[in-house]
Amino acid sequence: MEQFDMEMQRDRFLHIFDTRIGEREGKEALRDWLISDECDFFTAPASTKYHGNYDGGLCEHSIDVYEMAVRLEELYREDIRKQYLVLNRPYDREQFLESLAVAALFHDLCKVNFYKTRISGRNISYAVDEQLPFGAHGGKSVYVLSKFLKDLRDEEAIAINCHMGFSRGVDSTISIGESFRYSPLAWIVHVADEAAVFMLDRGTSDV
Ligand SMILES: [Fe+2]
Ligand SMILES: [Fe+2]
Repeated sequence: MEQFDMEMQRDRFLHIFDTRIGEREGKEALRDWLISDECDFFTAPASTKYHGNYDGGLCEHSIDVYEMAVRLEELYREDIRKQYLVLNRPYDREQFLESLAVAALFHDLCKVNFYKTRISGRNISYAVDEQLPFGAHGGKSVYVLSKFLKDLRDEEAIAINCHMGFSRGVDSTISIGESFRYSPLAWIVHVADEAAVFMLDRGTSDV
C-alpha cells in the first residue's frame, strides 16, 4: 500500500473542490465545515476493516472515486452525450463535470464523525460510533451535504444516494437500474466507487 501524507491528501481534495466546483450556494459554508474541528473528514478512515481502514482513508477514497469518475467520463464521453439526447434532457459537459465532482467527492460524507479510534498498545483499530443514526448510507450523505449545499442538483443527489448500486437496496424503493437509466452521472459514480475499491490497493477490497 502506498504511504501518503494526510495534509497532502487534504490539499489535493481542497484543490479539486476549489477548482472543479463552481459558485454554488453554500459552497463556502461546506468548505469551512470540512476544515473545522467539528468534522473529521480529512482524518477519518473509510471503513473499520475493509478499504481505506486507516487515518485519512475517507479523504483518499473520495479523491480516488473522483479520479476514477473523470477517467470513466473521458471513456464514455460520447455515449453520455448521446444518452442525454435519448433522455431528451439538456446536456452541458461543464455542468456534468461539476456534478461529477460534487457527487464523487461527497458520496461517502455519511462517514464523517462515524468512526472512533481504538488504541491498544501499538495496535490501532476503528469501531463505528454513529453520531447521527440516519438509517441509510447514500441517503445520509445526501442529507448531510444538503445541509450545506443549498442548490444540490437532482442528479447529484441521485448519484450519491444510489452509489452502492445493486449491492444495497435499502436506500431506494425503486429499481437501481431505473436510477442509472435516468442518470448517466449516477452510473458513472457507482462504477467509479467500485473501481476505487477493487482496482486500487487501499486495504481489503470491500465496500
Ligand atoms: Fe459508500
Ligand atoms: Fe465509496
